[in-house]
Amino acid sequence: MQTVVVTGAAGGIGTRLRQLLPAVYPNIRWSDRVRPKDLAAHETFVQADLTALTEVEAALDGAQGVVHLGGFSTEGPWETILQSNIIGCYNLFEAAHRRGVERVVFASSNHAVGFYPRRRRIGTETPVRPDSRYGVSKAFGEALAALYAYKHGLRVTSIRIGNFGEVPVDERRLSIWIKPEDLVQLIRIGLEHPDIRCEIFYGASDNARGWWDNAAAFRFGYRPQGRAEAHRDAALAAQAKLPPDPVGDWYQGGTYCSDEFDAGVEQAEV
Ligand SMILES: NC(=O)c1ccc[n+]([C@@H]2O[C@H](COP(=O)([O-])OP(=O)(O)OC[C@H]3O[C@@H](n4cnc5c(N)ncnc54)[C@H](O)[C@@H]3O)[C@@H](O)[C@H]2O)c1
Repeated sequence: MQTVVVTGAAGGIGTRLRQLLPAVYPNIRWSDRVRPKDLAAHETFVQADLTALTEVEAALDGAQGVVHLGGFSTEGPWETILQSNIIGCYNLFEAAHRRGVERVVFASSNHAVGFYPRRRRIGTETPVRPDSRYGVSKAFGEALAALYAYKHGLRVTSIRIGNFGEVPVDERRLSIWIKPEDLVQLIRIGLEHPDIRCEIFYGASDNARGWWDNAAAFRFGYRPQGRAEAHRDAALAAQAKLPPDPVGDWYQGGTYCSDEFDAGVEQAEV
């Protein structure tokens, strides 16, 4: 992989990856609509707004791989999600196709499947069940991934990221946490593994309380190093300070499910 473009470079994950990825890929072009505040002289940065196809095409010029982190990363008004995540994601895949990019790794989210109950273990072949407009946009991105993979031969990996951070900070995150180095492992599989065509992985570490069957990632050699249970006491102590949330605590998506929830108290059993 000679040149890799990473969108969303100014964000939380992008900022951490700027510390970890250069050791793996010496030629990275960082991109965002805003310039990272701490950009170093040796880092290559291209400003591009995902809503402008020509800007995205220019950012991807000559690249073999893209890690697509850019977008609105929480629930938001429809117009915001529409611009950055729906139109923006379409532009990313279309620009990749036009510029002959070989591989895309797409930062999807657990919120594409947030309305499954926590007691259900799900794999990657279960239908999407988004818990928010944001989650719908991630399901849309996974659909674009399949279109560009099977119609145009792009090799695409969608990673349904749980929660990225140095440690899991509450009970839900004991199930969905991913350690930064483990995300790097999944990104490397997406950019390098010869058998990638169109894959969906869960972006989770080795979490004993996990809800997801990540067999697809394991088949490609993923060996997560993070163990959420090592941080159990601190996470549960933090959880004890949070108010109960009957809907959010039932479903995998947490507060993304209880926000705006008006379906009544009956909860999906399966
Ligand atoms: N952080 C997590 O735990 C987590 C979990 C699941 C999924 N994800 C996904 O991973 C990606 C990165 O997450 P993050 O936590 O770093 O998010 P973040 O909000 O910190 O960063 C997102 C970046 O995208 C950029 N961006 C937004 N709209 C843009 C546009 N129209 N054009 C160009 N750039 C634009 C922002 O400027 C920002 O720097 C996101 O796609 C997010 O949905 C993150």
